[in-house]
Amino acid sequence: MNVLGIESSCDETGVALYSTTRGLVAHALHSQVDLHSVYGGVVPEIASRDHIRMLLPLIRQVLSEAGIDRPDAIGYTAGPGLVGALMVGGGMANGLGLAWSCPVVAVHHMEGHLLAPMLEEEAPEFPFLALLVSGGHTMLIAVRSLGVYELLGTTLDDAAGEAFDKTAKLLGLGYPGGPALAALAESGNPAAYRLPRPMLNKPNFDFSFSGLKTAVMLEVRKAEETGPGEQQRADIAASFQQAAVDTLVGKAIKAAESQDLRRIVIAGGVGANKELRRQLAERFDGRVFYPRFEFCTDNGAMIAVAAALRLNDAGEAGEIRAQARWPLDTLSAPTNT
Ligand code: KG4
Ligand code: ZN
Repeated sequence: MNVLGIESSCDETGVALYSTTRGLVAHALHSQVDLHSVYGGVVPEIASRDHIRMLLPLIRQVLSEAGIDRPDAIGYTAGPGLVGALMVGGGMANGLGLAWSCPVVAVHHMEGHLLAPMLEEEAPEFPFLALLVSGGHTMLIAVRSLGVYELLGTTLDDAAGEAFDKTAKLLGLGYPGGPALAALAESGNPAAYRLPRPMLNKPNFDFSFSGLKTAVMLEVRKAEETGPGEQQRADIAASFQQAAVDTLVGKAIKAAESQDLRRIVIAGGVGANKELRRQLAERFDGRVFYPRFEFCTDNGAMIAVAAALRLNDAGEAGEIRAQARWPLDTLSAPTNT
């Protein structure tokens, strides 16, 4: 079965073709970052319009690279995300599903992130602990099997990616800040500033990043009084990154141990952070899995593979689903498995 995946929940238009026998066949991505960066964040209306502009050309490109006229099934992101942006992908998927008489699967965006490591040769087996860290979410999930997700902890305020983005903004870096901050941190000393590791010693698995953000803000203000040098900015970036990584790694390991899980999957945009990957692999006494860098941030391949694993749930084209909110732990195992 050839499954076409469509991702349009936020500021990336992603399309991919996944074969249930051959794996990932083709994929294409268009990032809207340049359109939104002037505003310092994603503008929903602009996002929707750009998805409309890009989706069909990307679908044509992927099908042509795969050497096929049409897929056997279509998966699209039905939520959570920006409703207008989701409706573009949902409308396109259902329209094409009707035209091609093929089944359509409504995919949960975070389940897509969580299953992205399945695109790799060394795919994790169930069960595992998932550390889902993106611009909108920070979650620790015990993944018992496909669709059976128990939320162990989440953030009480900012998401991990949001904390990276806001800190980057304080340091005068552009949007999205995570990759820029990580790059600046490379030339900084992670021990230069003593920043808090919020909630790290609490017995639960929840996160809080607002205290860390405030601490960084105070250091940036202090530095501004003397006129921050390039080295000082790099030191702040490195110290922030280390505090965030320490917190994420510490909590993820504790959560995995509490559930006797020997595998940890890192997924979501912040999963592209090299220090997070390196330090988790170094400190965890089990195996760590993650998707290749390009499949950490939003993409169509993760939606195609998630849809392929849920083909039993496919419906007939026609019902367009677009949900801004959709808690991951309300999903269930695919039917008939
Ligand atoms: O998963 P994603 O592409 O979109 C959402 O579903 O939110 O995640 C985007 C987030 C942004 O906050 C971005 O700054 C962050 O992932 N990010 C990073 C890195 N690359 C992307 N954060 C830290 N280090 C990185 N290398
Ligand atoms: Zn995402």
